[in-house]
Amino acid sequence: MRKKIRVLSIFGTRPEAIKMAPVIKELESRPDSVESRVVVTAQHREMLDQVLRVFSLQPDYDLAIMRPGQDLFDVTEAVLRGLKNILAREEPDMVLVQGDTTTTFAGALAAFYLRIPVGHVEAGLRTYEKYAPFPEEINRVLTSHLADLHFAPTATARDALLKEGIDGKRIVITGNPVIDALQLAVQKPFRLEPELERAFLENGRVILLTTHRRENLGGPLREVYLALRGLLDHYPDLGVIFPVHKNPAVRREVDRVLAGVKRVYLTEPLDYLPFVNVMKRAHLVLTDSGGIQEEAPALGKPVLVLRDVTERPEAVAAGTARLVGTDRDRVEAAVSRLLEDRDAYREMAEAVNPYGDGKAASRIVQAVLWYFNRGPAPEAFCPPAFRI
Ligand code: UD1
Ligand code: UDP
Repeated sequence: MRKKIRVLSIFGTRPEAIKMAPVIKELESRPDSVESRVVVTAQHREMLDQVLRVFSLQPDYDLAIMRPGQDLFDVTEAVLRGLKNILAREEPDMVLVQGDTTTTFAGALAAFYLRIPVGHVEAGLRTYEKYAPFPEEINRVLTSHLADLHFAPTATARDALLKEGIDGKRIVITGNPVIDALQLAVQKPFRLEPELERAFLENGRVILLTTHRRENLGGPLREVYLALRGLLDHYPDLGVIFPVHKNPAVRREVDRVLAGVKRVYLTEPLDYLPFVNVMKRAHLVLTDSGGIQEEAPALGKPVLVLRDVTERPEAVAAGTARLVGTDRDRVEAAVSRLLEDRDAYREMAEAVNPYGDGKAASRIVQAVLWYFNRGPAPEAFCPPAFRI
């Protein structure tokens, strides 16, 4: 074993980059004990580069695999092939992957093929539905069984891993580094496009909308967008800010239903800092995103989740998130209730933060050192009490 532990982090999409940024900063802050290497697959291109810029991350390797309209075979194959020589050359002591994308799964598989230990950030999230979300549920189950060290964000996630036979001695409850990233982001200066400033000036209440889940593409997204048109007709003080995901399949539906609709402010994906600040100023959030289900509760924003199941039950239990699916009438009814019933709104808008305390990255790196017998195990993250 080398004097320093060589840790190679692999990620490729926007949310992985946001959640790995604090971990990489923490690895880099311990140069006496850790050598940090970063490989981006660039499963996302522009949306990944936005995050690399915000956090000043400079990857050592960039696989540049993104292709327009790529499918799961394309991504899996390109990640595996791209990583083979890099892993063989770098011989890391541990590979870190994050979450449940195809980069995550293929990255863990590549490391396993070379018998390199794998650490999994955000381990143990489950819906127990094979196709929801697709393919993320199976990506994360498989990644758990490839991994050697599991960074569970919450006790619920730890319990899910234990149920699947994962060795409890290899699970550490760390909190989710998304809260570390959020804490960094809210302190930094940012600039909001004039068009979005206008959205807040001209409308009494602004909904922040994001959509991208594969299982929602097509009909379900159309239903959601039609629901918004209905709501805009009904509530003249309402505006909608919608940073549109780069996936062409999402953009097709947006063009069909929302292009040119008054009080809908369509933008390119926002940089993380303006995005977080729009979330802070919005009245409520409507999303099928995973990460936003963690951030919005921490900012005290009600989140209506455009899905039938979630792997993040903590915010639902705490009352700040509610599952509303994608049915047009159901979405309209759920938003209307929050717009009309002050008590219902207030109950959901209480800030709760079951996902982290801003110290997840530090616990993760400490756990890596502990795995190699270079220090004590970190204390488990224990969330502040929240209402159930
Ligand atoms: C991926 C992840 C999903 C994650 C999401 C976060 C998989 C299978 N899916 O889904 O788990 O929640 O990222 O956003 O791993 N594109 C661009 N530029 C970009 C990003 C995407 O043009 O910066 C377009 C490309 O045409 C690309 C398409 O979007 O082919 C889809 O990207 P892909 O990463 O395959 O799927 P996502 O839906 O983004
Ligand atoms: N996000 C962003 N700009 C945007 C939309 C989202 O920076 O225009 C951030 C958001 O704050 C969260 C992450 O991207 O941290 C969520 O990414 P996404 O919804 O694409 O993926 P998921 O979390 O569903 O995997």
